[in-house]
Amino acid sequence: MDSPLLSPAEWQEAARTRLPLPTYDYFAGGARDEITLRQASAAWDAIGIRYHVLRGVGDRTTATTILGHDVAFPAVIAPMAFQRLAHPDGELATARAAARAGIGMTLSTLATTPMEEVRAAAPDAPLWFQLYVYQDRGATRALVQRAEAAGYSAIVLTVDLPVHGTRERDVRNGFTLPDDVRIGNAVANVDTLPDVHGSSLAKFITDQFEHSLTFDDLAELCDATELPVFVKGVVRGDDASEAIEHGAAGIVVSNHGGRQLDGAISTARALGEVAQAVDRRVPVLVDGGIRRGSHLLRAIALGADAAMIGRPVLWGLTVGGEEGAVRVLHQLRTEFDEALALAGCHAPDELSLDLLD
Ligand SMILES: Cc1cc2nc3c(=O)[nH]c(=O)nc-3n(C[C@H](O)[C@H](O)[C@H](O)COP(=O)(O)O)c2cc1C
Repeated sequence: MDSPLLSPAEWQEAARTRLPLPTYDYFAGGARDEITLRQASAAWDAIGIRYHVLRGVGDRTTATTILGHDVAFPAVIAPMAFQRLAHPDGELATARAAARAGIGMTLSTLATTPMEEVRAAAPDAPLWFQLYVYQDRGATRALVQRAEAAGYSAIVLTVDLPVHGTRERDVRNGFTLPDDVRIGNAVANVDTLPDVHGSSLAKFITDQFEHSLTFDDLAELCDATELPVFVKGVVRGDDASEAIEHGAAGIVVSNHGGRQLDGAISTARALGEVAQAVDRRVPVLVDGGIRRGSHLLRAIALGADAAMIGRPVLWGLTVGGEEGAVRVLHQLRTEFDEALALAGCHAPDELSLDLLD
């Protein structure tokens, strides 16, 4: 990390030059024509900010609380699979970076580090466990019980993957895992991706994950665990309401970073409807294309309690391990603080729809 990397695009470019093409494409890419991926940040950019002036913003804070956790700014690291492809320290580095940045982290079902080790690496950070439901329901229950025993404080059930959305870059590159990178929380001893032509991840998902989840499965999960269950992958108000009626303790507005349904609505456009339907009954999070502090500001003003941050963390991790991820998160917090001040606000809870065009 010699020269200072300032913009998100610079971090991404620095990561690109350090990664093998199949790994870079797996991290950066999206489904099919990547339309949803391309639109993600642009949709935040398109919302104008009607900022206030003369509000005496010298004294202000970015801090807030999420699910009872005090955090330094309204963000949590999104669940992202296979982080040891970015850096040998993988999820351990990400968890330590979350702790140092004063925010939480969501660990993927497809993490490359055992969840207990990640918990031990960052004893004080809020850690949530992202769940994909395996066809083997007993194994799925066992994963949830492990997360409870290890001290995770929420389950994030991802519901936008009934089937794998085809990522043509991965098919072209024959994306798979090298021998020294394994699924850290293996179920039924399957700790790597199958050896096939095309995308091994696509084949793994087809073979292993449940394709017929319903709201009743959500209710069953909520009954089976003491932990709050967030539902991740919602882009409609009616689905958010139905999820809450079936026990969801939170909603994550997400289209999986443009990696599932290409053509899916941008989360910047979906968030308002979902927040209105939820009507503060449970926390609402949002992710997808949040790169700048001013994107985060718009997300909170639209009704999110916090945002999940995805790829930028992977770029930081690739370039500088724990230190790189910390720097990316510090930059985002600094930008958010600057945007708050320039919008005439003192704290995240002052952000409301009134600020947006
Ligand atoms: C490389 C990569 C792996 C991902 N793995 C998962 C995963 O295992 N589980 C999940 O729910 N979402 C996964 N996602 C989606 C992210 O949680 C998040 O929704 C998305 O990346 C947010 O968009 P952003 O990257 O534009 O910030 C992954 C995203 C990326 C880029």
